[in-house]
Amino acid sequence: MSRPAPKSFHIKSFGCQMNVYDGERMAEMLGAQGMASAPEGEAELVILNTCHIREKAAEKVYSDIGRMRRGDGTRPMIAVAGCVAQAEGAEIPRRARDVDIVVGPQAYHRLPGLVADAAAGKRALDLDLPGLAKFDALPRRPAARASSAFLTVQEGCDKFCTYCVVPYTRGAEVSRSFEAIMDEARSLVDGGAREITLVGQNVNAWAHAGHDLGSLIRALDALPGLARIRYTTSHPNDMTEGLIAAHGDVEKLMPFLHLPVQSGSDAILKAMNRSHTESSYRAVIDRVRAVRPDIAISGDFIVGFPGETDADFEATLALIEKVGYASAYSFKYSARPGTPAATMDGQVAPDIMDERLQRLQALLNSQQLAFNQASVGKQCDVLVERDGKRPGQKIGKSPWLQSVVVEDGPAIGSLVRVELVSAAPNSLAGRPLAAVAA
Ligand code: SAH
Ligand code: SF4
Ligand code: F3S
Repeated sequence: MSRPAPKSFHIKSFGCQMNVYDGERMAEMLGAQGMASAPEGEAELVILNTCHIREKAAEKVYSDIGRMRRGDGTRPMIAVAGCVAQAEGAEIPRRARDVDIVVGPQAYHRLPGLVADAAAGKRALDLDLPGLAKFDALPRRPAARASSAFLTVQEGCDKFCTYCVVPYTRGAEVSRSFEAIMDEARSLVDGGAREITLVGQNVNAWAHAGHDLGSLIRALDALPGLARIRYTTSHPNDMTEGLIAAHGDVEKLMPFLHLPVQSGSDAILKAMNRSHTESSYRAVIDRVRAVRPDIAISGDFIVGFPGETDADFEATLALIEKVGYASAYSFKYSARPGTPAATMDGQVAPDIMDERLQRLQALLNSQQLAFNQASVGKQCDVLVERDGKRPGQKIGKSPWLQSVVVEDGPAIGSLVRVELVSAAPNSLAGRPLAAVAA
């Protein structure tokens, strides 16, 4: 059955920074094709840009599809993009008959053709993993954007941690070229971005033509108009000397490092195939702190990996005590189909996971509050990102990635010098001292 080609679209992104970046690029591409962005309830094409990392995230897409029928019984054209699309493929339209298009995270540059196919009543499924092809096919990044932008420099993952779906949904590690990245960075800055966050599943494994992430950051440092550089997510084993050194002497590189560790127990790290130990992880942090003592450290943790004993869990708490985190993400282990850990012995009972997660988060929350409280009295720049609730109020980020609320702050995109005057668990208040010139 054929139907009119959609003229408007809405994209919902559920996943990590790479997934958010993909959502932005899809929107830019459809916009360049003359389609208008619209609210979810009105759009003629709805794209669910999905995440497969944990069961809860992956299942959410099906409940969303179920809610897509409108009051008058009609529904939009529905596309499932992202990592669930890659992992479940043709299974998706079998399970949810309303789905018209399934497109993987490396094939979405072909979305316009898939939309035309779906409109013509044809099967529209593209799960090709062509590596970097999408970057060449996508239109140049348009102007008028947010003050802070993501820039994907690297796709895929070769690490094969035993719990993780990413190597299967995103394919092998591939690095974009130095020139392509610099070119995209220039267009982002020309379009108004003051901050660029380089993103990749293993961003610090990026390498091209003799460059590593450290030398890429040094090249970006020379871009006029760019005020801040960040990168995420890193693997402890790919923290090269050059990258660590950049933290010491590139002023635009913000003092923040997200370095997932998952567990503080060497037995569990081994079972996870993390290929680092508790002490080698801490050694990396010590080296970074040696060159940048004020750096804020963030991490990811999994509780309840198969075989995790009370003693293993206590080792994770002990690691957290030693490191001192400024922020962190923590998750209950979720068995993912097709991963080695899903069939390991010693799966941990849900109530034990709940209890461990609560204890872990209580400790991490107390560290985050302590970090924020220790910032009170400091002066720093805040990059204004959005309006606050009250008139004149602005919300932005400190160098340490804390949310800072500024009363009577300057326009979005400005850097404002503030004194941090009070701290809460998730934000601080800043008193403006003077606007900082570009
Ligand atoms: N490439 C990044 C991010 C991976 S996904 C990295 O290696 O750090 C982000 C986080 O999700 C991981 O760091 C891990 O803490 C969590 N995660 C991944 N798979 C998971 C699973 N099966 N169950 C629970 N948490 C998981
Ligand atoms: Fe997943 Fe491990 Fe790769 Fe991170 S490094 S994406 S956790 S396999
Ligand atoms: Fe999720 Fe895929 Fe990112 S599984 S975390 S959207 S790479």
